[in-house]
Amino acid sequence: MSAAREHFGSRIGFILAAAGSAVGIGNLVSFPVAATKSGGGAFLLVYALFVFFICLPVMMAELALGRRTDKDPVGAYRQLSGGSRLWRIPGWFALITPFMIAVFYMVVTVWVLGYLVEIFKGNLTSLTTEAYFGEFINSKTVFVYLIALMLIINGVLSLGVRDGIERAAKTLMPMLFVMLVALVVFVLTRENAIIGVKYYLIPDFAKLSGEVVSKAMAQAFFSLSLGMGIMITYGSYMKKRDSIPGSAKAVALTDTLVAFTAGLLILPSIFHFNPQIDTATLSDSSAGMIFLFLPKIFLSLQDSIGYFGASIFAAAFFFLVFVAALTSLVSIIEVPIATLRDERGMSRKKAIYAVAAVQFVLAVCCAMSFGMADWLTQFITLAGSDKSFFDLVEILFYDTILPLNGLLVCIFVIYKWKRANFDKELQEGDKGFAGSLSQKYVNFSLGTFIPAILLLVFINTVMLKFFNTSLFNLI
Ligand code: PHE
Repeated sequence: MSAAREHFGSRIGFILAAAGSAVGIGNLVSFPVAATKSGGGAFLLVYALFVFFICLPVMMAELALGRRTDKDPVGAYRQLSGGSRLWRIPGWFALITPFMIAVFYMVVTVWVLGYLVEIFKGNLTSLTTEAYFGEFINSKTVFVYLIALMLIINGVLSLGVRDGIERAAKTLMPMLFVMLVALVVFVLTRENAIIGVKYYLIPDFAKLSGEVVSKAMAQAFFSLSLGMGIMITYGSYMKKRDSIPGSAKAVALTDTLVAFTAGLLILPSIFHFNPQIDTATLSDSSAGMIFLFLPKIFLSLQDSIGYFGASIFAAAFFFLVFVAALTSLVSIIEVPIATLRDERGMSRKKAIYAVAAVQFVLAVCCAMSFGMADWLTQFITLAGSDKSFFDLVEILFYDTILPLNGLLVCIFVIYKWKRANFDKELQEGDKGFAGSLSQKYVNFSLGTFIPAILLLVFINTVMLKFFNTSLFNLI
């Protein structure tokens, strides 16, 4: 067993590392696209309400669980479950979920890396041809990129919490903020950019349906890296003197600001490309957007800044997405590593090798499920349609189990660990919390309507993904 637990060196170090986890492909691509298709400002409003009134208390609950126990998710649930075997199950969920989400997220990040390298080689034009994406993801080079990506992530992780995770976040996150703002400023000066801004910000409340609200909720939950054991693990690296409510608010705010700002980059670019665009035709999936649509948009910039300029812009964007994905992957892979260290007494190095070996095999299976291997491509039939191995991992862990994990955290913290103990942990390092409105809200909401909402999201997803119907069809 390792001697003393590792900790983040400073409060800002923790905030940047947790924000690094939260800011990912979800913020830079999925969020702007979802906002565009679902009522612009109306979606932004619903999303912001979800972040601050539903997700933020869940984040505090996860951080408190980790910091109280000084353990990984499996250990945290075990320690506070008072001998109940049943209550250990959420701990296992909080281990398997990040493990599997990391696998499919790694494959998408590998594609981002591949596109980035191609742009550097001067091949932006070829990325815009219809067939390119299909050829690229089925080429052997993806395995080379996968190995490179795993070396980078595990290289960071091998340096530990303070010298690896925290230092990487302190270097990469400020760089990400600066680059994002620079790209936004540039895009806003392009022709027709303002049409995109208007489209993004002006609320269209008619588009707010039950589906849209449920989508906003799922997006907010995923974006804050909840339900993945990450915040429990990172909470265990927090110092007692740091405020959990204060730090959680800073992370949620940063994450939301980055998502909002990304919209100011994507929307004006789309409308510069085509001011008459019908946004209903935009791809729903982030992958479709990143790999099929955005390269075309970036190439179109050559009319005003030349091919070289357009390539630089495209490279900067893909680099941004890559950095955001990298810091998210670092955080998510730290979860199983922490578990092996805490529960099995392994050294950090051994744990890294063990996790990487299994993840490599699974990631290869995911990468081969786009045509390279038939049995992986048509792995299973769900709700009447063929799903690949990649689809299955995404549907099971990202779509379905994530809200379930959130629900279990709320119930466990309030009713098993007990509200009073949780509250005491939140007051530790935060003198002003006792008696505050925030204290009353967090304690009440986590035991009542937040788990109820997460339960609805969970039921709706199961109906949607496995039975091709939805709660909203019943109403
Ligand atoms: N918050 C991340 C995002 O928005 C989600 C994530 C976290 C994904 C950690 C993988 C690992 O993309």
